[in-house]
Amino acid sequence: MGAMRKVHIKSYGCQMNVYDSNRMADTLAPEGYAETASPEDADLVILNTCHIREKAAEKVYSELGRIRQLKDAAAGEGRRVTVAVAGCVAQAEGEEIIRRAPAVDLVVGSQSYHRLPDLLARAHNGPVVETEFPVEDKFETLPLPGREAARKRGPTAFLTIQEGCDKFCAFCVVPYTRGAEVSRAPAEILREAERLAEAGVRELTLLGQNVNAYHGPGPDGRDWSLADLLRALAAIPAIARLRYSTSHPRDMADDLIAAHRDLPELMPQLHLPVQSGSDRILAAMNRKHTAAHYLKLIDRLRAARPDMAFTSDFIVGFPGETEQDFRDTLQLIEDVGYSTAFFFKYSSRPGTPAAGLEDQVPEEVRSERLARLKAVIDRQQAAFLRGAQGQVHDVLMEKPGRHAGQLIGRTPYLQAVNVQAPAAAIGTIVPVLIDGISANSLFGSLTEDCVTPRSFVDETSAGTTPAAMLADAGA
Ligand code: SAH
Ligand code: SF4
Ligand code: F3S
Repeated sequence: MGAMRKVHIKSYGCQMNVYDSNRMADTLAPEGYAETASPEDADLVILNTCHIREKAAEKVYSELGRIRQLKDAAAGEGRRVTVAVAGCVAQAEGEEIIRRAPAVDLVVGSQSYHRLPDLLARAHNGPVVETEFPVEDKFETLPLPGREAARKRGPTAFLTIQEGCDKFCAFCVVPYTRGAEVSRAPAEILREAERLAEAGVRELTLLGQNVNAYHGPGPDGRDWSLADLLRALAAIPAIARLRYSTSHPRDMADDLIAAHRDLPELMPQLHLPVQSGSDRILAAMNRKHTAAHYLKLIDRLRAARPDMAFTSDFIVGFPGETEQDFRDTLQLIEDVGYSTAFFFKYSSRPGTPAAGLEDQVPEEVRSERLARLKAVIDRQQAAFLRGAQGQVHDVLMEKPGRHAGQLIGRTPYLQAVNVQAPAAAIGTIVPVLIDGISANSLFGSLTEDCVTPRSFVDETSAGTTPAAMLADAGA
């Protein structure tokens, strides 16, 4: 191991990029790299980029401008700073990045992170671009998360189980930047989950571009579905909470819906993007489902788990979207009733089928629709938040809050709660009475029966279902 060096990794884009950034740090740790939160004192800066919308992609170049200044200043002091661009812009634009931003030493696609040490060594002699999809399995070669690193990252963790996308929605770059759907083997996932559990992780979010299309050869010789995998992960004693993201409505299999009924560890919250409520637009988007199909799924999931809350993504102003199509989307939102949602103006992406469509919706219309959609979602989000008032929720205590003696935790619905509680409670799940609400977070107090320190080590509360908690609170 050489001298201690520092790496600054900045993630843009989806949760999978956050996961990838952690794995890059894990790969670099044995090379003597410690993570730093500030780019100023880093010897290596990695931008883990996103290509999903034009704005996201352009942000990278403005950031690279700033980093170039850092690099020049360091060079003035005789210090070498290496700059790497990873992620989906790297995959999509390759060499073009070095042409536009000559400060960049390395461009590395998301399938080659296990080769980072070698690529960095090569980048010492001049710019390197690595955007092939290599033959060897990245995940088999990547080291497991280090125990210390995992502990530092806190009691919640992402775990990528599936990558890539075969759906080819007409607007989306992901099938091109991440390639075809590939699932990791269950045994490998279980090993990683156990490592994380040993390091104090209590909540796992399984990730994939189409996570519910997951399938892999199980240790019992059967092809495991996501539901099979969730069952196996729920059996790890320290893992008290499970989530998965992002799902496609076409892949919500019966056994997965049943898992929501049967597994108390599976949180009653699901991100199920629909994009539009108009069948005409859904067809043009190549989503391969209708609004009715989606609403039926929501009903079945609510039948399996009555306290289920839903979130979604929406795109407004897809080419050809009329006022009536847009109203159909607003209607679907009213019909479902979301806890919150993400919404985007359609952004034309080079190389996608929709980029070539006529009838692009004018910018003013897209902006106006986005504002109307936001107003509806804001109202639903506020109503959902207000609904928590007076309820008792199981809260996973995650980290110190802004004020002394305060911790921040999350309800089963991922809502942040500020609670007066001792630092020793981090990593435990405790019932909290929600007694205050601000713009987008909650305030809560530990309930009577858990104010003694004993309950922080007693982990029986982990087994209590949120549904039971709601019932207890008389909700
Ligand atoms: N695989 C996931 C998420 C993909 S990207 C899924 O299928 O849901 C996350 C979100 O970005 C998408 O759900 C979509 O709402 C949005 N998005 C993707 N491409 C876009 C584009 N060209 N313009 C605007 N929003 C887009
Ligand atoms: Fe993109 Fe559609 Fe695949 Fe999601 S399902 S990643 S939106 S192509
Ligand atoms: Fe962005 Fe790539 Fe994720 S384009 S949303 S970082 S898969």
